[in-house]
Amino acid sequence: MNTTSRDAPLASVRVDGSRLWQSLMDLAQIGATPKGGVRRLALTDLDRQGRDLVVGWLRDAGTAVEIDGAGNIFAVRRGRDAKAAVVYTGSHVDSQPSGGKFDGPYGVLAGLEVLRTLNDAHLETTKPVGVAIWTNEEGTRFIPTMGGSGVFAKVHTLDYLLAQRDIDGVSFGEALRTIGYAGSAPVGERPVDAYFEAHIEQGPILEAEDKVIGVVTGALGQRWYDCAWTGQDAHAGPTPMEARHDALRGAARMVETVNAIALARAPDGRATVGFMQVKPNSRNVIPGQVAMSIDCRHPDDAALEAMDRELRDAAARIARELKLECEVRLVVAFPASHFNPECVSSVQRAAEMLGLSNRRIVSGAAHDAVYLSRVAPTSMIFVPCKDGISHNELEEARPEHVEAGANVLLHAVLARAGVA
Ligand code: GLV
Ligand code: MN
Ligand code: MN
Repeated sequence: MNTTSRDAPLASVRVDGSRLWQSLMDLAQIGATPKGGVRRLALTDLDRQGRDLVVGWLRDAGTAVEIDGAGNIFAVRRGRDAKAAVVYTGSHVDSQPSGGKFDGPYGVLAGLEVLRTLNDAHLETTKPVGVAIWTNEEGTRFIPTMGGSGVFAKVHTLDYLLAQRDIDGVSFGEALRTIGYAGSAPVGERPVDAYFEAHIEQGPILEAEDKVIGVVTGALGQRWYDCAWTGQDAHAGPTPMEARHDALRGAARMVETVNAIALARAPDGRATVGFMQVKPNSRNVIPGQVAMSIDCRHPDDAALEAMDRELRDAAARIARELKLECEVRLVVAFPASHFNPECVSSVQRAAEMLGLSNRRIVSGAAHDAVYLSRVAPTSMIFVPCKDGISHNELEEARPEHVEAGANVLLHAVLARAGVA
C-alpha cells in the first residue's frame, strides 16, 4: 500500500512494495545471468550501467547527487534544516561473479523507495535523508572488500584503494576513471547523522524461525589472507613422485586445514578458501605456484587471533613437509562490530510498530554498515532469503518481506530524521 495523502498520520505511511520490486527486477536485468542471477563486477561497464540507472532514478526523486573520489555516490533529499547532518541509508550495486538480484541492490533500492515514499506523502523531514551507493563492497574483483566505505571511514587511504589491481593487472583507479565514476568530492568529509542499511540475511536463521525482520546488532570480525605456495614446475611424466615440489599439494592440504580450524570453533567460527589460481595450470605440468585466498570470521576477536596463529603455523608445517615455500599475507582485517544501541532499538521499534515478527541477529556477512558504524551511529535491517542462500544466482527473497524491510527502514529513518 502506498499512502499519498498529505494528511496521513505519520505512522500509517508505507512504501510501495510493487514499485520497489519492479526497480529490483529492472536493475537485475543489467548483468543478468541465465540462472536468474547477476554478474556485475565492481567498476566494469555493467557496474557503470547499473549505477547510471539508479542515479537516474535518484535524480528523478529530486535528490542532489554527488560522487566522491572513490566512486561512492551520495543522493540527498533536502530537509527543513539544510545544515543538519544527513540520515543516510544505502548499500552497493556491485555483485559477486555469480551473484543474486538482492545482495546490495536491495539496500540501495529500499533507500530509493523511502525517498519516493517521502515525496508521495509530501513529507518534509527535519534532517536531510540520503542514499549512498558504496563502491566495490564485494571485494571480489578488487581487494579490499568494502573498499569505498573503508576509505570513507578512514580505514584505508584513497591512494591505497586506487592502487589495488585486479587479476588482469587493471588498477582500481584506472577502472574507476574508465566507467566515469572518479568523482571530485573528497572522500569521507561528509557529516552522517546515522546510517541504516537494509539487506537480505544471507543465512538461514530468519526463515527457519519464521521471522520477517532481523534487527541487526553487529557483524562478525573478519580476516582475509593471500596465501602463496611456491614449488617448482616440472614434467608430470618423468619427474619421480618423491622428487616433486608440488605447490598444489600444499594448497590442497591447507584447504582441509582451514576448514578444520573453523570446525573446531563451531558454530561461531567460519573459514573458507574461495579463490585459487594454479600456475601454469597445464595437465602435464606439476604446479609450481598456487595463489589462494583464506577468509576467517568469528564474533570474538581473541578467537580470530587464535585462528590466525593456527593457520600460519599450519602453512609453515605443510611447506616444510612438502619442501615448498609458503607466504601468508593478511590483506583485510576488522574486528567484530557492535552497532549503535539507539539505532538498533529504533529498527526494533519500527518493526514492532508495523506488527512484524522480529529477532535480534548478528550478521555473518560483512556490509558497508560495518565501516559506517565507525563514523556514525549505525544499524541494519535484515529480511529472510530463500533457504538462506546468497552469493549464488539462485538467491531469492519474497516480495512481502522485501516490502516489510523497506517499511521498517522508512520508519527508522523517519524517527531519526524527524518530520518538520
Ligand atoms: C560480503 O559479502 C562478505 O564477504 O561478507
Ligand atoms: Mn551485500
Ligand atoms: Mn555480498
